[in-house]
Amino acid sequence: MRTSLVVCCTFLVPGIACAADAVDYNRDIKPLLARRCVECHGPDKQKSGLRLDTAAAALRGGNSGLAVSPKKGDDSRLIRAVTGAKGIKPMPPTGDRLSEKEVALLRAWIDAGAPAPSSEEASRPKADPRKHWAFRAPIRPEPPGVKAEDWVRNPIDRFILARLEKEQIAPSAEADRVTLIRRVSLDLTGLPPSPREVDEFVADQGAEAYERLVERLLASPHYGERWGRHWLDLARYADSNGFNIDAPRSIWRYRDWVIDALNRDLPFDQFTIEQLAGDLVPKATLEQRIATGFHRNTLLNQEGGIDEEQFRVENVVDRVNTTGSVFLGLTVGCAQCHDHKFDPVSQREYYQLFAFFNNCDEPTLELPTQKQIIQRKEVRAKIDALEKKLRELDPWTPERVAEWEGKLTTDAKAMLPTSIQDILLLAPNSRDAVQQQTLTAAFRKAEQVTHVAATLGDPSDLHQLGQLCVLTERHALENRIADRRKQLPAITTTLVLQECKTPRTTHIHLAGDFLRKGAEVGADVPSVMHGLSNKETPNRLDLAKWLVDAKNPLTARVTMNRFWQHYFGLGLVETENDFGVQGTPPSHPEMLDWLATEFIARGWSMKAMHRMIVTSATYRQASRIRPELASVDPRNRLLARQNRIRLEAEVVRDAALTASGLLTRKVGGPSVFPPQPAGVYSFTQIDRNWKAVTGPDRYRRGMYTHFWRSAPHPGLTVFDAPESTTTCTRRNRSNTPLQALTLLNDEAYMEFARGLADQVLTVKCASDDARLVWAFRLCVAREPTERERQTLRKVLDRQGDCERRDAWTTVGRVLLNLDEFITRE
Ligand code: HEC
Ligand code: HEC
Repeated sequence: MRTSLVVCCTFLVPGIACAADAVDYNRDIKPLLARRCVECHGPDKQKSGLRLDTAAAALRGGNSGLAVSPKKGDDSRLIRAVTGAKGIKPMPPTGDRLSEKEVALLRAWIDAGAPAPSSEEASRPKADPRKHWAFRAPIRPEPPGVKAEDWVRNPIDRFILARLEKEQIAPSAEADRVTLIRRVSLDLTGLPPSPREVDEFVADQGAEAYERLVERLLASPHYGERWGRHWLDLARYADSNGFNIDAPRSIWRYRDWVIDALNRDLPFDQFTIEQLAGDLVPKATLEQRIATGFHRNTLLNQEGGIDEEQFRVENVVDRVNTTGSVFLGLTVGCAQCHDHKFDPVSQREYYQLFAFFNNCDEPTLELPTQKQIIQRKEVRAKIDALEKKLRELDPWTPERVAEWEGKLTTDAKAMLPTSIQDILLLAPNSRDAVQQQTLTAAFRKAEQVTHVAATLGDPSDLHQLGQLCVLTERHALENRIADRRKQLPAITTTLVLQECKTPRTTHIHLAGDFLRKGAEVGADVPSVMHGLSNKETPNRLDLAKWLVDAKNPLTARVTMNRFWQHYFGLGLVETENDFGVQGTPPSHPEMLDWLATEFIARGWSMKAMHRMIVTSATYRQASRIRPELASVDPRNRLLARQNRIRLEAEVVRDAALTASGLLTRKVGGPSVFPPQPAGVYSFTQIDRNWKAVTGPDRYRRGMYTHFWRSAPHPGLTVFDAPESTTTCTRRNRSNTPLQALTLLNDEAYMEFARGLADQVLTVKCASDDARLVWAFRLCVAREPTERERQTLRKVLDRQGDCERRDAWTTVGRVLLNLDEFITRE
């Protein structure tokens, strides 16, 4: 590690030094671009989707791909544009051409690798941010006409194809059937298809075979799990409170609610309203209250000595910011301490949004079953009866305690613990409940001691002996009560929001400091958007309705953009969490607006939109990389093919469980504790006892693994599961050796590989070669090529002396480690 670092540095340093001598970005390039290009490629206008106001933006490129190809000055689109090369519009299109010296500077900068300053601020738009496209409600565009009508399956394809035709690029052919069924099964349910399902689909020659497949998947309860998990990323769901103490919490009923809501295709507007304000819906049902768990996924600080108000405010801040990101795709949170520097959201408006969430109580809701209600009633009645008896035997009334206190001599007092002496110093009417209880307990203890001592002293004293019997009986009763308490049913609880009875007043927090209260503000929405329909006394329910009002310019766009991101790897708006002035403009603005308006027109049905996207020709294309497009559209923004996407952490596990035949298909319920490597708690304050379950719960889908915020299961973090401390609108997708090592060596994956071996050994197969094909299909759906089969055969044969199960387990480990296994093609 260290050596390579050294080599790396010695290699790099002279390079940078040398480039800095010749051309300096800040001195030579930035001013040149600002003078000649930024007017059309900057914050106000992004012609061809290209911005040149920062080096980072220049390096990102425009709609046609890279404009700057580091180290390749002459090949760079930017240089070709400014030199008026063939096949590209000369830049700048009007006015004088750049001088030779200017062109040489640009070329030298790119040849040096286009070094960019570590931080560079984007220029602010001169244009009025209130006129920014995203703040205007989408107007439904007409899907464009195209030349290759045959290719079009639905309006999505028109938008995509029209753009491709403009660039004279042909779309890719449809993916083969095996790839298609694996792709759409993973995308809609997060589970790969079984070989039998693949065979059925391949054999189905009917015209609507694919559409039937899609219907089956959308109707599967696993659809709710798959898209529920995407939603839980936004909801920052976890099973613990966070911070150092990170105590466990019970909120899985909210997760169940999400899965169920998606499975019954609860319209997105209602889905939003119930999560933000289910408690305020008229005649709110229990389920609607459970839905408000969305905003109870905030962290909870339980360290000693914290300021409760500070953390209450932090939770409200998190709720405002999360609402801004999830529904509006805006960085509203930037206005917590000062006016938003780019978007039209003032600090005052921030606290107007804050006011909607400032009136929440945070109760824990009990969710007993009918049976538990009856059981609890019965057990409570028995406890009550026992307690009544106990009180009769032991009338430690306040009067008796007072009597005892009155008789205490100074010496007797001095014998008592100091904590009791302190209470005795207080006037009886100034003692709080806890102090009174403590005193009662002390009285009872003293009484016992006296009796026992007396009896021991003179066993013939009948009165004292009687008292001793009472004591024994009392003790027995107390034990019986304790036993009964253990019979009380363990009732599930969940965390919910509830509007408090006496509303709080909201002030602007100066510089974001909750202690520095500024002007008082009422609940309202940013003025750049449509107004609230209830202007008088708006509450959370009005805010929720405002978010899903057809006039809202953002919610439908932002939601459709995230759907798109899941299906193609990137959103139409790449900055899925920033639709503001600083965000990237959409690659296909008309299509985004069409999708948004279609979503609303279809009654906010999420399933309808999933169906639309996955049945499009655009979605069904092969993902094979097309070298001829590498320079024209290196990031595949024009979608002349599908993208290959690494599976998410939970789905990596689910795919392995499915291939191994071990998967427990139960949907919902409390989180579970599958095996995890030792040593996870070496770095946390509290050592958690993670006892791996046995039985079916050991093989539940990844989304049910108990999530400790301070130390999540490594199988999740290694594959980029979010930390769940704040909302996550897009996961990282990293590629690290730890991932390969996990798939190869982790205890859980060893077990999956063994399951795979068992499946292969029990299936009826004529030969080991046939078994290899079967194992391969279980993992990646397709059959291996001849070469792949031979390679696997070698792996198997090399295990010659091993037990058969062990030999096949080794083959299983190889298969679970394939890149293709953890990739959606
Ligand atoms: C007056 C407006 C204007 C100015 C000034 C301007 N451009 Fe452009 N630029 C455009 C337009 C319009 C297009 C789209 C051309 C087309 O595709 O027909 C474009 C496209 C480009 C592209 C291709 C982008 C892509 O990836 O699709 C590059 C590169 C480019 N400009 C570079 C520059 C540079 C460098 C400068 C400054 C030296 C500059 N432009 C100045 C209007 C401008
Ligand atoms: C916790 C408080 C806080 C939050 C949240 C915050 N800032 Fe700031 N920011 C400050 C302070 C303090 C300054 C310096 C004083 C000032 O300019 O108000 C500052 C300054 C800035 C400046 C430079 C000053 C200027 O006027 O150009 C920019 C740009 C900026 N912030 C952008 C942002 C963005 C973007 C976000 C959201 C991602 C954000 N800030 C969130 C506290 C905050």
